[in-house]
Amino acid sequence: MPGRTVYLETFGCQMNELDSELVAGRLRELGYAFSQDPAAADVVLYNTCSVREAAEQKVWSRLGDLKQRKHDEPNLVVGVLGCMAERDGAALMDRMPVVDLMVGPAELDKLPALLDNAVRTRESLNADAPERISAKLTALQGSASRRSATLAAAEDTLELLDLSRSVSPVDAPAPGTGRTSAYVRITRGCNKFCTYCVVPFTRGAEIHRPPEHIIDECKRLAGAGVIEVTLLGQTVNHYRYEHGAAVSLGGVLQPQKGRTYNGSHHRDAFAGERVTTFAGLLDRIHEEVPAIRRLRFVTSYPRDFGNDVLEVMRDRERICRYLHVPAQTGSDRMLKMMNRGYTVAEYDEFLDRARSYLDEPEKGRPLMVSGDVIVGFPTETDADFDATVALVERSRYKNCFIFKYSPRPGTVAYDKIPDDVPDEVKRRRNNELLAVQARVSGAISAEQVGRTFEVYVEGLSKKSRKSAGATSGAIRRAGSVMLTVAGREPGVAVAEAEPAELEGTVQLSGRTDGDNIVFFDADASEAERLVGTIVPVRVTAAHHLSLHGVRL
Ligand code: 5AD
Ligand code: SF4
Repeated sequence: MPGRTVYLETFGCQMNELDSELVAGRLRELGYAFSQDPAAADVVLYNTCSVREAAEQKVWSRLGDLKQRKHDEPNLVVGVLGCMAERDGAALMDRMPVVDLMVGPAELDKLPALLDNAVRTRESLNADAPERISAKLTALQGSASRRSATLAAAEDTLELLDLSRSVSPVDAPAPGTGRTSAYVRITRGCNKFCTYCVVPFTRGAEIHRPPEHIIDECKRLAGAGVIEVTLLGQTVNHYRYEHGAAVSLGGVLQPQKGRTYNGSHHRDAFAGERVTTFAGLLDRIHEEVPAIRRLRFVTSYPRDFGNDVLEVMRDRERICRYLHVPAQTGSDRMLKMMNRGYTVAEYDEFLDRARSYLDEPEKGRPLMVSGDVIVGFPTETDADFDATVALVERSRYKNCFIFKYSPRPGTVAYDKIPDDVPDEVKRRRNNELLAVQARVSGAISAEQVGRTFEVYVEGLSKKSRKSAGATSGAIRRAGSVMLTVAGREPGVAVAEAEPAELEGTVQLSGRTDGDNIVFFDADASEAERLVGTIVPVRVTAAHHLSLHGVRL
């Protein structure tokens, strides 16, 4: 509702960051304002994550903190969006009566209508009708109604949310003045049902977006100044769009004419005229949207990753040499219990194959790989864990996200396998693995010294931001330098820190196409111009997780 101010906080993964951005864009168009300060807002929304219990606990504590405020300000509207809403359903509202509104991740297109309703309900509240305050609003998919896996995105109302993405100057201004990096969804949901994971239940069945929608979105973003796009899906390499299955969505999607591929290789990228595979999609985006100078994607599944994708990555220079490909464990027994569908040997084979195609350090393009590992999955023995340590050592991840197993209600593991690894053992294994990965990361960083990389400049380093007096926020303004880290942080709230003059030399931070963080010095007067551009930097020193260099 126009005139209302929203505070939107995002927890969890990049998919949630994108969801928040899309929701915020819609609400802005409808006249809502945004604030980074919850106290200044009359609508407080949390976009939540259920992957681990710790993420949920943060939200519970935020909601608890709102109790008194809600009592004092009954017009305050509190909404829980995302996976917790879907997973907990009505139970969440019973436990936390401050919540007025819940919207699952597969129903976010309904948020504007529900929010409008909630705000109006509260506005019409008066002493004569106190019962109206208890009107609760929900839009949940419901675990019993996982949408059909064959449902095409174009028939899916949620697709409208992605399609309506506002590529306005607020979200994507011209280079140098704002955001130049963006996420683009290619697939929603997940069909894998790893036994520990809630995602297939909260986000629903896997649905692939039509390539035309994805490419149009990339074009619009590029037109607004975006030069880096990260494609998002739970298992991106499973992307597969069967043309003809769906041809219209209010006239948005035109009938397919069939596409002829005129490149000399990757013919296998197209399994016939009527199917677009992941390799085909990458190739099309690369060829049809050349203004995107960096194209990357997360997350890859270690199975079914064909050479067709590796060939496109090798042959198309604007596709980043970066893979996030979680192994989860180095034990075949654990992989089986996790229902991952591959063996450790197959995982190793994939990394070897990927490196044989893509690792070209002599050209300044080493392949960088990152991983995820879960420690303390039920029945994990010391021997299983040792196998995971060995996998992490030989996989040579640039970085690896290590998680202690967290039993999630509703998953197969939760129902069938007791969480029998004591927390102290999980903690010990977690710390041991962190130390192993720190050594690997340090060694990989050290190998980069002397190499020259194209670095995408994201903004002032934390160190320089502090000395400029800027506070943290999604988008920061320090003096005349508008600093953005779009895509990396929710592009939701616009924080304008106290302007501070930048003088002398500042430290900028950016990333290589393999996603290594690089710091380098620049004159304050040129910092603004450099942010959001790609510049060559020669690496002169390596620290544990970051590189330091000089701009050439
Ligand atoms: N416990 C711990 N980690 C989990 N992940 C997913 N579910 C769980 C869980 N129940 C991790 C996996 C996944 C990442 C996004 O989160 O490693 O790749
Ligand atoms: Fe969860 Fe497995 Fe799907 Fe990843 S692939 S989202 S871990 S079920």
